[in-house]
Amino acid sequence: MKRKMIIDSDTASDDAVAILMAHRYLNIEVLAVTIVSGNMTVQDGSRNARYTIELCGAQTPVYVGCERPLLHEPAHAYWYHGPDGMGGMNYPEAKLQAAQGHAVDALIENIRANENDVMLVTLGPLTNIAAALIRAPEIAPLVSRCVIMGGAANVVGNVTPAAEYNIWCDPEAARIVFRSGMNLEMVGWEVGRGDAALTEQEIRDVYALDTPYAKFAMDCNVHALQMAKNWQGDPGLTLHDPTAMAIALDPTLSTRRGKYRVDVETRGELTRGMTVVDERHIVGTQKIFTDAWAVREPNVLVHHELDAARWKELLRQCLG
Ligand code: BDR
Ligand code: CA
Repeated sequence: MKRKMIIDSDTASDDAVAILMAHRYLNIEVLAVTIVSGNMTVQDGSRNARYTIELCGAQTPVYVGCERPLLHEPAHAYWYHGPDGMGGMNYPEAKLQAAQGHAVDALIENIRANENDVMLVTLGPLTNIAAALIRAPEIAPLVSRCVIMGGAANVVGNVTPAAEYNIWCDPEAARIVFRSGMNLEMVGWEVGRGDAALTEQEIRDVYALDTPYAKFAMDCNVHALQMAKNWQGDPGLTLHDPTAMAIALDPTLSTRRGKYRVDVETRGELTRGMTVVDERHIVGTQKIFTDAWAVREPNVLVHHELDAARWKELLRQCLG
């Protein structure tokens, strides 16, 4: 019995590895990949997703979605992922065409058609998901798990000291999703750092698997590797979307987690896009609910850490 999954993505290099993992993992059926503006324009994201899916020998429909955040201007990240988002590899156009219809419609239809039996994994800004929830709020409880790659759980962010990119790009959308009542799990960018980053030796070990998947996964991340080391100060290749996908595929990889109230700062001059995690349950225990704390009950399962050795083993399995 396969578990059903929808992936929402702004497909650049690490998204591509996550999409590949889901397609290569044994008991997963990917119903759709929906594309959102984020790292890439939606056209480039769609092109990268379709190339990745075709490499896996699959025909998963790819739907183009929202071309810009709800309120803000787009802030693409070609500077991080390379001029094509794929490390400058300039892969050819896939034969697989983009599916007809809008990503937001595809999300609503697929969730309704697979009530309580579909997992949603989000790898980009939450614009498409928020738009779907605005149109059809009743879909929130129909999603079995929504695993979000995004945020920074009371730790430093990547694009500002306070915020992680996916949430910072469209904080209003993130707030709608975080307040929606969906069964949410958050995998912040910090989960992919430290021991979870692939060292030079581990990258060589992946290449040594000698499969098209392994070569693709490492090649398309060459630019991201340099940025992770030189800009983020990480010890190797950080694969944020794949670490979130790993926890979606196998929740036992998560080694430290907790369910808390989490909300998103939308207006802070310095803190826009910050995921504020009530990690000490201060709001509830002190009976303090300000107008800002619309979230009354713990609403997000936050994963803080994962088993780095087992995550890398899972990655190698998917690429082997
Ligand atoms: C997120 O931003 C992008 O660079 C990655 O694809 C990931 O979704 C990390 O902040
Ligand atoms: Ca992404």
